[in-house]
Amino acid sequence: MTAKVIDGKAFAARVRAEVAEHVARLKEESGIQPGLAVVLVGEDPASQVYVKNKHASTIEVGMASFEHRLDASTGEAELLALIDQLNADPKVHGILVQLPLPGHLNSELVINRIDPAKDVDGFHISNVGLLGTGQKSMVPCTPLGCLMMLRDHHGKLAGLSAVVVGRSNIVGKPMAQLLLGDSCTVTIAHSRTKDLAEVCRRADILVAAVGRPEMITGDMVRPGATVIDVGINRTLRDGKAKLVGDVHYESAAAVAGAITPVPGGVGPMTIACLLANTLTACCRANGLAEPEGLTA
Ligand code: GUN
Repeated sequence: MTAKVIDGKAFAARVRAEVAEHVARLKEESGIQPGLAVVLVGEDPASQVYVKNKHASTIEVGMASFEHRLDASTGEAELLALIDQLNADPKVHGILVQLPLPGHLNSELVINRIDPAKDVDGFHISNVGLLGTGQKSMVPCTPLGCLMMLRDHHGKLAGLSAVVVGRSNIVGKPMAQLLLGDSCTVTIAHSRTKDLAEVCRRADILVAAVGRPEMITGDMVRPGATVIDVGINRTLRDGKAKLVGDVHYESAAAVAGAITPVPGGVGPMTIACLLANTLTACCRANGLAEPEGLTA
């Protein structure tokens, strides 16, 4: 079997177009423009690229983008004061503090200072608790993007066996909660799981989010399974820089029914879902109906 390739780039473009349509309608009918504030502390090169891309995508869908770049030496009190100011600003519907923060700043304290209703990353402890108890919340962008692709491919997910490899707060745990919310039978595996290959082979849906290059190989995939590769690992191959996922693509694609490539799979969905979350937060803040198909 050769797997169907799930095109995340095309899917993300569709999500962004849908968001843009909603934003245009909101402006026309209610005079409201959704706004996203992104806070970057320091000069981490990867973070600078992410923030630049987020700004461009936000503008492209017709939202207001507020960028706050702070010096690496910024103190906690100053950063918390900025978050308080953004929490109180009615033009700001979503707030994202780019991670990782410089070592002297307490990330948990900073994230938990964000108004949960504006926490478009879904990292605030209130949103984590709401998601864990099946209540309406803001949902972390990467798992939300994976869920959208899975629903699109399978239709209903109820009853399917899902294995999530990885237990991070950003991807693995929320991914498992979302799949449970769609009535999958969910297993969370990780780098220390006994006989990982056997556990993975039980999966109708296999989500790889361990951060280890090409750890999931074809022999760990059940024939016909859907494989979602969340990994983005920079490696050197024959002296050349190459981006690879947590899945060994060639061997897995030979067995799977469907698979996301790296790059061009899950990656583009993350920013698309950040925009979707900002739109959702704006609608909720204004007591308006939420856009369908863009939330969990
Ligand atoms: N750094 C890398 N990915 C992310 C993300 O999704 N959200 C935030 N806030 N920081 C990140």
